[in-house]
Amino acid sequence: MDVTVRRAPKGLRGTITLPADKSISHRSVMLAALAQGKSRVKNFLRARDTLATVRCVRALGVNIMDNGEDLIIEGRGLGGFLQPEDILDCENSGTTMRLMSGTLSACSFFSVLTGDSSLRSRPMARVVEPLRLMGARIDGRDGGRLAPLAIRGGNLKGIDYTLPVPSAQVKSAVLLAGLGVEGETVVREKVPSRDHTERMLAGMGAEIFAENGVIRLQPGRELEPFDMSVPADISSAAFWIVAATLVPESEVLIPGVGVNPTRSGVLRVLASMGARIELQNQRVVGGEPVADIRVVSAGNLIGTTVAGEIVPSLIDEIPVLAVAMAMARGESVVRDASELRVKETDRILAVCTCLRRLGVEVEETEDGFYVRGQGRLTGAKVDSYGDHRIAMAMGIAGLVAEGETIVKGAEAVNISYPGFWAELARFAGR
Ligand code: S3P
Repeated sequence: MDVTVRRAPKGLRGTITLPADKSISHRSVMLAALAQGKSRVKNFLRARDTLATVRCVRALGVNIMDNGEDLIIEGRGLGGFLQPEDILDCENSGTTMRLMSGTLSACSFFSVLTGDSSLRSRPMARVVEPLRLMGARIDGRDGGRLAPLAIRGGNLKGIDYTLPVPSAQVKSAVLLAGLGVEGETVVREKVPSRDHTERMLAGMGAEIFAENGVIRLQPGRELEPFDMSVPADISSAAFWIVAATLVPESEVLIPGVGVNPTRSGVLRVLASMGARIELQNQRVVGGEPVADIRVVSAGNLIGTTVAGEIVPSLIDEIPVLAVAMAMARGESVVRDASELRVKETDRILAVCTCLRRLGVEVEETEDGFYVRGQGRLTGAKVDSYGDHRIAMAMGIAGLVAEGETIVKGAEAVNISYPGFWAELARFAGR
């Protein structure tokens, strides 16, 4: 599907209601399934990625009811999953495959995880290696580096593991496997990655402690079910925060957004570029920090550098940050972000190719890119590369570009934000 976006004729104004957080939605279902008793999840994200998780978890014998509003999950307790009758299809979702590989490693049965062609080309050795060290028998294409992954789990032992890449998916896979082992599991991370799994497990009564990048999990305790409401996704908010910053005379309020510090690097970077973002009504919901975000437009953004420790806290927002960088004055740099090469598509290549088509001078490097901001974009035909975040970043670029921007493969937004184009139509020129 192609979508044509014209420059916004006037400022974005009003309240923007966002879909729920994707990372937390995945975890709510996977963890509730392991609890002893019924959990209720309000504001669950119904998008392709998270619905793939629901299907996989149901295939393990877990009863999940969707009453149109909430999900009710009847947890089977630790060790209570049933051997699935067929292969489990994670579709496009890296979080589903990597977190499920941890859970399934603790189950003493045979299971197979697969996904679409994008997911089947993404690196899996990062989860397979630690899970094998814990005792899981895992095979896959290319010696277990690529899915499909065939897992024979059970009889695991705890490990003390230092993450070689800053990845919440790997950390979570090891912790989920660690729920079903003998002995303590320790995960060490040099750079902090999103900590939703740790927060949720702690809220369920697990013996889990995190300090200075060391997470210790003591197995044995049954997990308590919960009643939670998923906050709005800061990764989805980022598109409108950039749009409202760039389109003159905008003023928007985005209520109930998760602002966990391991996720909110985008706010700090945009503020350093001159964006006017205010967090209101800060509170804690279901163990996660939440706020209403108010954004007013800001002229004359300045270029910036994104590198080092902050990168994991904004890794998914780099495509839309690149649009802000292109609209800023002066040079911007992204470094230490080679993980972008192994996302749903190679996002360094995709961002650079798309921005070039929009008339921006960019230079691609191994682990990032340089953008020479000119304060303007020229509409053109760009490809989503089948990647939801590239599609949406280009939609936002279209709101500020001169002329018409055509986004090919626009349906990719259904992965995390099915209503994105309808929302954008409220603001775009016709
Ligand atoms: C996610 C972790 C990040 C992120 C992805 C979601 C998660 O990936 O990019 O969109 O829910 O744990 P990595 O773990 O590969 O960094």
